[in-house]
Amino acid sequence: MKYLAPVLRGGMKVVAGSASLALGKELARAIGADLVDVAFEKHPGGFPDGERYVRLLAPVAGEDVVLVQSTYPDAKVVELFLLQDALVEAGARNVTLVIPYFGYGRQDKQFEPGEPVSARALAKRLGQEADEVRTVSVHNPDVLAFFGVPAKDVSGMPAIARHLRGRGVDVVLAPDENAERFAREVGKALGADWDSLEKKRIDSFTVEVKPKAMDVKGRQVAIVDDVISTGTTIATATKMLREQGATRVIAACVHGLFSANALTRLQACDEVVATDTLLSPATKVSVAPEIAAQLHRG
Ligand code: R5P
Repeated sequence: MKYLAPVLRGGMKVVAGSASLALGKELARAIGADLVDVAFEKHPGGFPDGERYVRLLAPVAGEDVVLVQSTYPDAKVVELFLLQDALVEAGARNVTLVIPYFGYGRQDKQFEPGEPVSARALAKRLGQEADEVRTVSVHNPDVLAFFGVPAKDVSGMPAIARHLRGRGVDVVLAPDENAERFAREVGKALGADWDSLEKKRIDSFTVEVKPKAMDVKGRQVAIVDDVISTGTTIATATKMLREQGATRVIAACVHGLFSANALTRLQACDEVVATDTLLSPATKVSVAPEIAAQLHRG
């Protein structure tokens, strides 16, 4: 699609995929737009072979549309392609694609010969039917270039800080140096100390976390990360922090995947908090205000 103009020029419509219905509703409220109803099943129970289906239940011809859908799990990627095509068919004027959780974003380069750059594989196809893209706390902002249209990342960390404010957090820690920018952002917002730990990943379920200089004895700690997947990173860090005398450990992430019994593993923490980029029992705060503010800035 051709880039026409910045978003939020007047009347807007929000279309949310089934991975992002709650956030889409919040976002529509935050930007004062109408939420377009979408049917996700042609027949009750859906297609017998499990194929996805979408149908827009209100007109969007000539409209500026904000399309919201996380690309996780895989079926939601297919659904997003269908929604993009439905918007083209329906004659939407301009589509800003908001991807709250960009699944496959962590394979941002070829780690081993023969591998794809999965983030690029997805982004370049999604960018073909969007005028602009917004991601939320994407793992590596360099992948934004793969969309091939103007793309910006919105930090979900202010939402985490909003939830943690007033909870007596003394120290904000990132589990590794890559995530230090997250700890700095939340720490500064809370007026708390911040630092990062040293993490060495052995495999998907094994990490080693080493302490750094910061003293956590008798202090309340929040560990912040972009994604919690198996929870191994945070659970290992929590054990180490408790051994060092931390009185309370809160695990906080923007994207709560919580795969492979992560929430059981995370019982090591006093609290687990995630945003609504993905819905889970730990979803306690919405990133809608952050996305809305970014859309208003254009
Ligand atoms: C990786 O670099 C991410 O930022 C997270 O630290 C990672 O995905 C967490 O994985 P897990 O919860 O499985 O330890």
